[in-house]
Amino acid sequence: MQVLSSPTEVAALSLNMRRLGKRVAFVPTMGALHAGHLALIEAAKRHGDWVVVSIFVNPTQFGPAEDFGRYPRPLEADRQTCEAGGVDLLFTPSREDVYAPDHSVYVVEGNLTRGLCGPHRPGHFRGVLTVVAILLNIALPDVAIFGQKDAQQARLIQRMVRDLRMATRILIAPTVREQDGLALSSRNQYLTEEERCRACVLSEALRLAESCYAAGDRDAVQVCARMRARCEAVVPASAVEYIEAVDFEGLAPVTTLADGTLLALCVRVGKTRLIDNVILGRPHMAAAYGLLA
Ligand code: PAJ
Repeated sequence: MQVLSSPTEVAALSLNMRRLGKRVAFVPTMGALHAGHLALIEAAKRHGDWVVVSIFVNPTQFGPAEDFGRYPRPLEADRQTCEAGGVDLLFTPSREDVYAPDHSVYVVEGNLTRGLCGPHRPGHFRGVLTVVAILLNIALPDVAIFGQKDAQQARLIQRMVRDLRMATRILIAPTVREQDGLALSSRNQYLTEEERCRACVLSEALRLAESCYAAGDRDAVQVCARMRARCEAVVPASAVEYIEAVDFEGLAPVTTLADGTLLALCVRVGKTRLIDNVILGRPHMAAAYGLLA
């Protein structure tokens, strides 16, 4: 496995691979790699011949009160994980490698960011889209893999790539979970033992919603209310940041549940902000949205 921090070297290597007829698959991350990231790497190996992983804790996507400073950065362990995971190139740029000192161009989306995490994390998706655009322009991949865990992020990136006519195909891999349902996240390590127990409520609420849908319930307001009640049994009402039913295409609120409805929630457990989601009728939506099995 090669490890590089120079954007020009990465771009040159990637272009060379493509000239040799190899499909380049890219997995952007902020490190602190876990089984969720590894599943993206596995998917990248299935959809590409040469796999690039980036590790960059992107300052522009963190709010002033967020955890940029204390975000975990176990670089040596991550390097070993990538090596063992069969990654071909690990790209570990510095801040200066990604952003010019007088960087002044940002990617702003005005529609899919209106709901879910958008209003709660001002500037977050501007930072995400900007860095992903930069990273795609460096890695020049045929495909890039993102996790459904961050469904709004993945959809936004698909929209950016469509609207800006970028030449990368964006695939979305399923959320990897702990045995008890908790979605893996680098932020789970902030949870105390007691909070870790309560954190299960997100996936429990989603399973409840899925069983309502399977039983024929189509009333989004009612189902979201039942999810909320489930959450409020273990966290204060004020800790439930949002529970929303939106269509996966445009992330606009829906009143009727249907295949392709994204049910998403954000709950603060202690000081840790956790998100999770499901797409109803996911297998039927797979082809339209590059959702991997
Ligand atoms: P990070 O949080 O490190 O996540 C990197 C990728 O791993 C994202 O596509 C995310 O959705 C995916 N991922 C995280 N947890 C997952 C899980 N439990 N199952 C499946 N996939 C999971 O997301 C980011 O970094 C950044 O915003 C980034 C896109 C790298 C831009 O800075």
